[in-house]
Amino acid sequence: MTRPHRQRKEWRSVEPDGGALREAMGHFPTGVTVLTTGREERAEGMTANAVISVSLEPPLMLVSVHRGARINARLREEGYYALNLLAADQEGLSRLFASPERSSGVTAVRSMGGGYGSTGAPLVRGSLAVIECELEAVYPGGDHDLFLGRVAAIHLGETDKAPLVFYQGTYPSLKEAPRLKEAGAFMDAPRGFDARLKGW
Ligand SMILES: Cc1cc2nc3c(=O)[nH]c(=O)nc-3n(C[C@H](O)[C@H](O)[C@H](O)COP(=O)(O)O)c2cc1C
Repeated sequence: MTRPHRQRKEWRSVEPDGGALREAMGHFPTGVTVLTTGREERAEGMTANAVISVSLEPPLMLVSVHRGARINARLREEGYYALNLLAADQEGLSRLFASPERSSGVTAVRSMGGGYGSTGAPLVRGSLAVIECELEAVYPGGDHDLFLGRVAAIHLGETDKAPLVFYQGTYPSLKEAPRLKEAGAFMDAPRGFDARLKGW
């Protein structure tokens, strides 16, 4: 007699340390942002993908920032930030703002090229969207701190461009999603519900 629950794929369980967590999360592709704060010589930018849209009512965002990152103290001092959602053609900016050798201040603002938003945070020209936040709270999170922000302004750019994607340490290009019909769209026949008709 077959016992279906025993036929599942076996897991390779590993020591749940930082390296294993990094490896596991490498299987979770994300978008990429440049987190910015501060004007002129106080400007800082850092590449960040640990970003969550926490709440819609009220609109709240969260970004996780390493305790040792230059921008960490500056975020607390300035009390606002912008999350610049990068487009596929902005891999260079992602690499630049993830580099410890990058500039701060006016040189950084010049690389971003988008001037300032209403909060005072620098904007990255060519981003798909920019979400500006006023800092609401900072929570400790191990070797990172979590910056909760109330959304203060939203700017939409060339939204028909593809997003920059980060996956297993690389920037793969996002292939066009297969059409639902070809992807074997889910159909719940007894309830007459067809996901394809809903455009999902
Ligand atoms: C795609 C990508 C996403 C990243 N996301 C984050 C993040 O969410 N939080 C963070 O603290 N560092 C993140 N980093 C690392 C920082 O960008 C990088 O370590 C930076 O140099 C830290 O700033 P520092 O040079 O001032 O220490 C990310 C790097 C890359 C390439």
